[in-house]
Amino acid sequence: MKGIILAGGSGTRLHPITLGISKQLMPIYNKPMIYYPLSTLIESGIHEIMIISAPDHLGAFESLLGSGEQLGCKFVYAVQDRPNGLAEAFIVGEEFIGSDRVTLILGDNIFYGSTISDAIRRYNNINGAAIFGYQVSDPERYGVVEFDANDNVKTLEEKPEKPKSHYAQTGIYICDNNIISISKNLKPSARGELEVTDAMVEYLKKGKLKGARLEKGTAWLDTGTFQSMNEASQFVEVIEKRQGVMIGSIEEAAYRSGFIDTAQLKKLAKPLVKSGYGKYLMDITKE
Ligand code: TTP
Repeated sequence: MKGIILAGGSGTRLHPITLGISKQLMPIYNKPMIYYPLSTLIESGIHEIMIISAPDHLGAFESLLGSGEQLGCKFVYAVQDRPNGLAEAFIVGEEFIGSDRVTLILGDNIFYGSTISDAIRRYNNINGAAIFGYQVSDPERYGVVEFDANDNVKTLEEKPEKPKSHYAQTGIYICDNNIISISKNLKPSARGELEVTDAMVEYLKKGKLKGARLEKGTAWLDTGTFQSMNEASQFVEVIEKRQGVMIGSIEEAAYRSGFIDTAQLKKLAKPLVKSGYGKYLMDITKE
């Protein structure tokens, strides 16, 4: 299973902040935003990861994350020239995906709860595609997933006026290799984008779209607006202070997935000690 993080886009809902910096490098409490989706992939056992961003911003991601070797991973970087839609990730990433399966995660989505990584791991040998539904109070803003009695996806509709359920499609898409040809055959939507929902609907038509409801104890946070970014920061701060655990630490994720050993975790922790982040990692090595 390969991983792709889509970290481009325009970030117009965060202007003027995102006029000069990529949205996915903005802080969510004490980490850059991209740490959260990246840690979700690493916790799921995925170590070959492509990061896709806009031409002006890709270099900053490379400076931040490097080759991935320090985390026992392999990171590769690719440009999306224009925000032509989420499904374009599978076209940009065609060579990187090769003949493997791929999990796409959006660079501004934060997931909390171990059931997510367990679920992604379960789909390691998927034949078809899988999406996650998360209960929200305002489903009409999202892709809406309707499940049947056996938790299979019955319908999937993008921003419907009359939602058939309260389950929003989250920003994780687990796909078999057919996603490349499906994406290449998509027609741009009315807003001119290659829609990932349209790609998922292709799987649905063939009876190959699986779905899982994220349980109540998990959190899915969107960070696309000032308010939601602020709320996500507060959420992370509250949990971290209360429980003394970190959400979204890529170093901890790599350690717990067995990608790096204790000596390497210590090495990564040292330069981060002054902010408190490194002390947290040091404490983990003593567990
Ligand atoms: P959106 O939040 O839908 O779009 P955006 O980030 O451009 O923000 P805004 O609506 O404020 O203009 O995108 C979801 C995620 O996908 C986000 O992480 C950006 C990323 N993205 C791409 O990388 N390429 C694309 O073509 C699109 C549409 C989004």
